[in-house]
Amino acid sequence: MESRAARSPRVAVVLGSGLGAFAEELDDAIEVPYAEIPGWPRSTAVGHAGKLVFGRIGTTETVVMAGRAHLYEGYTPAQVVFPIRVLARLGVRVAIFTNAAGGINLAYGQGALVLISDHINLQGSNPLAGPNDDTLGPRFPDMSDAYSARLRTTARAVAESLGTRLQEGVYAALLGPSYETPAEIRCLRTIGADLVGMSTVPEVIAARHMSVEVLAISCVTNMASGILKQKICHEEVLQTGAAVRGTLVRLLKALVPRLEA
Ligand code: HPA
Repeated sequence: MESRAARSPRVAVVLGSGLGAFAEELDDAIEVPYAEIPGWPRSTAVGHAGKLVFGRIGTTETVVMAGRAHLYEGYTPAQVVFPIRVLARLGVRVAIFTNAAGGINLAYGQGALVLISDHINLQGSNPLAGPNDDTLGPRFPDMSDAYSARLRTTARAVAESLGTRLQEGVYAALLGPSYETPAEIRCLRTIGADLVGMSTVPEVIAARHMSVEVLAISCVTNMASGILKQKICHEEVLQTGAAVRGTLVRLLKALVPRLEA
């Protein structure tokens, strides 16, 4: 793949459910379908494209993952983090993860974009469990600055210059695929979660293990279970993703060239 793409991306952008539009924004793009990459997990979730796109945003060599694998699809934690490990080995130093999330914090509204400041891992697994590969990183990696304060400051400045509101919050990762019960959401709020979702955390742990700097942005596609009268459905998640598409694309385009240290 390295020779086929002949690129050395420094920044990776992982696009979540319904948030795939940014993949079309790269200059000099080279697309590699996941199906053509040995060992690469393919997303079975509706709303995930399943391709890797190498290209440039301005002068920044960038790689975009349009679609990701989730634990709820039956993939192992090692399979879920295989792509981010490959990208880190290709030279990626900064990773931006996007995802669709349920809003727990009542200050959020549908369609809000939220910078993740920290996470709570409730998925019952950790991609680093098992023998440690010391060539990737340490046995016990620090997670106290998992979501880079430096990158969050940059993201806030870029968003402000675009007139885009970015909120900030703690993301709780659950296994899924069922949405949460209202009691689970009350529990999550009590323990300090602002957002809930089914992705991102394994990849962030694997990225930090390899010293890749992380920025993560959630799109609040729906208010979490029990907050509003209506039920939660995947179509609504995808529709909200589509509604914020333009804003998210503008933000990422302005942000990516500013991220390299
Ligand atoms: N819960 C979990 N994951 C989600 C949600 C939700 O409400 N919305 C989008 N992804």
